[in-house]
Amino acid sequence: MTNIADTDINAQVIRPTYDRASLKSRIVHLGFGAFHRAHQALFTNEMLEKTGSDWGICEINLFGGEDLITRLREQDHLYTVAEKGANATIVKMIGSVTKSLHPSLDGQQAVLDKMAEEQVAIVSMTITEKGYCADPATGRLDKNNELIKSDLANPRMPNSAIGYIVEALRIRRELNRQPFTVMSCDNVQENGHVARAAVLDFANLVDQELAGWIEENVTFPCTMVDRIVPAATTETLAEIAQLVGVEDPCGIACEPFRQWVIEDNFVNGRPEWDIAGAEFVSDVVPFEEMKLRMLNGSHSFLAYLGYLGGYTHISDTMTNESYRKAAFDMMMKAQAPTLTMPEGTNLESYAKLLIERFTNPSLKHQTWQIAMDGSQKIPQRMGGSLRHHLEHGTNYKWLAMGIAGWMTYISGVDEKAQPIDVRDPMAEQFKVIYQQHGINTSAVKAILGLEAVFGTDLINNEGLVNEITKAYQLIITKGARAAVAAL
Ligand SMILES: NC(=O)c1ccc[n+]([C@@H]2O[C@H](COP(=O)([O-])OP(=O)(O)OC[C@H]3O[C@@H](n4cnc5c(N)ncnc54)[C@H](O)[C@@H]3O)[C@@H](O)[C@H]2O)c1
Repeated sequence: MTNIADTDINAQVIRPTYDRASLKSRIVHLGFGAFHRAHQALFTNEMLEKTGSDWGICEINLFGGEDLITRLREQDHLYTVAEKGANATIVKMIGSVTKSLHPSLDGQQAVLDKMAEEQVAIVSMTITEKGYCADPATGRLDKNNELIKSDLANPRMPNSAIGYIVEALRIRRELNRQPFTVMSCDNVQENGHVARAAVLDFANLVDQELAGWIEENVTFPCTMVDRIVPAATTETLAEIAQLVGVEDPCGIACEPFRQWVIEDNFVNGRPEWDIAGAEFVSDVVPFEEMKLRMLNGSHSFLAYLGYLGGYTHISDTMTNESYRKAAFDMMMKAQAPTLTMPEGTNLESYAKLLIERFTNPSLKHQTWQIAMDGSQKIPQRMGGSLRHHLEHGTNYKWLAMGIAGWMTYISGVDEKAQPIDVRDPMAEQFKVIYQQHGINTSAVKAILGLEAVFGTDLINNEGLVNEITKAYQLIITKGARAAVAAL
């Protein structure tokens, strides 16, 4: 079958012009998912176009995505990204990826050997929140996580990302090789600190000397990443095939906007990603908080209440004026007041830009997709802001509605009594709660009792319990659309 590497493709596709053969696997990336393809790999592609350096990427999927890796290899690791604006689409062929591995295809040892190779300077990650095997309430390694338990029993043959990183660093140390920088690009609050805590906690349980060496020699820069990249669907792939002139099973579509703020703290060199528009700063945390609370917080709000309200995509929710207004208020009234930003940051312009991005109808970002893994997302996207308002006695009704929306969503039944495919590491716990309570306001307190999501403090705040119960009651009796309109 012809593919993008061995056939003529449409002339409007922007192709790499640098020498791909000279690229080395200086970056090993864990998580060749939708986002990375349209973000870090694309930034690297544009950096290479302007610098001609040798920073190539080796892609690794630790869980799932075997097929994607196989397809990628068949097309010489080339793939396309379609940047879809409201009026026009730009298609770029990405050349920065030149190698790939998958433990199911190549074996775990091949992955470890690659990560330990001399030239590897950065191990980056987009492995989703659960990939860190961290307890969401404490941010430390969850020692009861099944993957972690089995990796601790057999640390030389790991399965978790954390286990792989620690074992690869152990090998590098043994071989007297420079360590690599561990760079998280996941939407996780203080992602570098979470990665560092998980890696050090794990290493300490395996070998304390190694843990000391990692602590001294490895850095874990925080990054703030932003670009809406919906999962590929049959329709987006068909559209990409038409734009490219041949099928590209690894192709991905995204919005035109992209942002990458990186803490400049690398132990073994780094690419000049700033040449491609990234920003290197000394402290990423304020930017992360801004994005997690304003963008991701309102995205989650729209995902739960949008799904329940019968909207398939985020852009569909934006056609409803009360959702649009609630999302803007959520950003400006519930989230912005909780932030401390560097001077000159204009949060209102940021919120307006977000609403414009959410409205882009050419992006088919599913509410169901964003609604996934809520137990891991709620603490960072809404929990911190909620505590801020409780401390200051300020209005948090948008957050209460968002959380009530999530609580209703995880019942697993929508407003038309149809089942919802709830994907969440805590899904079993949700089932137990709903078996006991049914879709009833008594479920609110039971869910608030989930310590991993809400800690131990929130359930004891009577005002908060009442506010969420009121919102929940409104959603289950009047429906999500009416509940959002009532805000
Ligand atoms: N898609 C977006 O719009 C977007 C925007 C900003 C940030 N992000 C972040 O990027 C990350 C990836 O999102 P995506 O859209 O690419 O999702 P995706 O489902 O396309 O990819 C998920 C990737 O994570 C890996 N993975 C899953 N569970 C894992 C585990 N337990 N251990 C190791 N690896 C694991 C998979 O192999 C896969 O490569 C998420 O943290 C997300 O928050 C996504």
